[in-house]
Amino acid sequence: MTDALLRLDRVNSFYGPVQVHFDLSLEVGKGEIVCLLGGNASGKSTTMKIILGLLKPRSGQVSFDGRPLTGLATPQIVRRGIGSVPESRRLFATMTVRENVLMGAYTRDDRKAVVEDHERVLDLFPKLRERHAQQAGTLSGGEQQMVAMARALMGRPRLIVMDEPTMGLSPLHVDKVLELIGTINRQGVSVFMVEQNASLALRIAHRGYVLQTGRIVLSGPAADLARDPQIRDAYLGGTRAA
Ligand SMILES: Nc1ncnc2c1ncn2[C@@H]1O[C@H](COP(=O)(O)OP(=O)(O)OP(=O)(O)O)[C@@H](O)[C@H]1O
Ligand SMILES: [Mg+2]
Repeated sequence: MTDALLRLDRVNSFYGPVQVHFDLSLEVGKGEIVCLLGGNASGKSTTMKIILGLLKPRSGQVSFDGRPLTGLATPQIVRRGIGSVPESRRLFATMTVRENVLMGAYTRDDRKAVVEDHERVLDLFPKLRERHAQQAGTLSGGEQQMVAMARALMGRPRLIVMDEPTMGLSPLHVDKVLELIGTINRQGVSVFMVEQNASLALRIAHRGYVLQTGRIVLSGPAADLARDPQIRDAYLGGTRAA
């Protein structure tokens, strides 16, 4: 694909002596929703860390819009246009919804545009407008997920990376969050989502990759993956760890 927005090229990563990724290569094209599927400890969250510059690959390259991200610190990577929704949302529990959302604009100094973007984001998440003064830690899981997504959007990202966005949510909130991911994508933001729950991720993704102990073992259009017997056995009908 020539129109890749995010590209990982033969990434090898380690925690100390332990290797997590083995020649990991993947791409997210402009306008795409791409999911990275895999079981526990397969290296999904570590892939997020690599993209966000929180862990440096020992070898291989990460590039965004044709430019390497090598050596950049996380705030610089965010400024390039990558927003993140981390595992377990990582909100500031004692701060309000409004404060949490605005935290997503911390790398920006265009205050007027920030106010406008805040309004736009609240239009997308009307629930958060209602609850702007509530402490984030007291929100439901689905509402917290919305705060984390709103916060990521405040950085005006071209790509949002999400770690298990549906984890722990009620079916109703799962539907809502997937719908919002689709809406954000249609507004022009590419999405890279890491998911253990393949059937949910493949409902909205255009393409997917399957990671097994740090190696991509399968990839393709979401519809093909959903039909793949290997995926069906391992991830669709299988039990999901809490
Ligand atoms: N900070 C760390 N130090 C050492 N090892 C780590 C660290 N973080 C993760 N690991 C190990 O790296 C491997 C991959 O972890 P990672 O969190 O990327 O998996 P995951 O696919 O996100 O799993 P899960 O589905 O449980 O969230 C695991 O074996 C894990 O124990
Ligand atoms: Mg994880």
